[in-house]
Amino acid sequence: MSRIEDVLCSRLRQSLPISMVTCYDAGFSGLCQEAKIDLLLVGDSLANVVLGYSRTAEIGMPEMLHHTAAVRRGSSEAVVVADMPFGADVTPELALENGLALQRAGADAVKLEGGKFEAVRALVSGGVPVMGHLGLLPQTATSLKQTGRDAAEARQILSDAKGLEAAGACSVVLEHVPSALAAEVTSALSIATIGIGAGPHCSGQVLVLHDMLGLTARRPPFVRAFADLRSQVLKGLTDYDQAVKDHSFPA
Ligand code: KIV
Repeated sequence: MSRIEDVLCSRLRQSLPISMVTCYDAGFSGLCQEAKIDLLLVGDSLANVVLGYSRTAEIGMPEMLHHTAAVRRGSSEAVVVADMPFGADVTPELALENGLALQRAGADAVKLEGGKFEAVRALVSGGVPVMGHLGLLPQTATSLKQTGRDAAEARQILSDAKGLEAAGACSVVLEHVPSALAAEVTSALSIATIGIGAGPHCSGQVLVLHDMLGLTARRPPFVRAFADLRSQVLKGLTDYDQAVKDHSFPA
């Protein structure tokens, strides 16, 4: 059993929720390990959160490999999931090649968006554990609205989730779907569901690090900021600027 399956199965067996947070660098990776976060996601939200792009689809394998390696260097023990960037999984062969590259960079598993069952099968049979991702799919979404509100969309998400499990995925992220649908998917699967904006009935939760630490000025409504780092960082920076300019630092 892989490291990620070990963690997921043990949490499920004990009916304990799974904590997951995005992480993009070595410093925060060490902190996440110290905080005993179960899973770290090198999300392709790296694009907008850290690298200044406007869409996740704008980054590729070089950036994902670079940051996955940094997260791994920051923590040898963390269970690290790396996103397959847009276009990296368009064929099963390419998915496996890129999945193995992310694994060599330090990922314990890769996450890919949508019901790409063939790619999932290729990855799993090539030795790369896979986390699926359904609901709002940022790489291709044209709006940020909740997904799965109408019956046809809900049926599709449920059926894709079952398809991902059958293809060998070890868990599925459910992004911005109604809480009742997340509950239905969770009870229909034997693998873990990890929700983001999907209510309390998933097996675990994931949030974007900079949102949950209160570093971003605007956050999705479903995010709780567990700290207010933005105002503390701004205060530190303005105090430093002031101290340099009024000659009080260095003393
Ligand atoms: O890239 C990311 O941050 C993600 C989360 C939203 C799940 O995929």
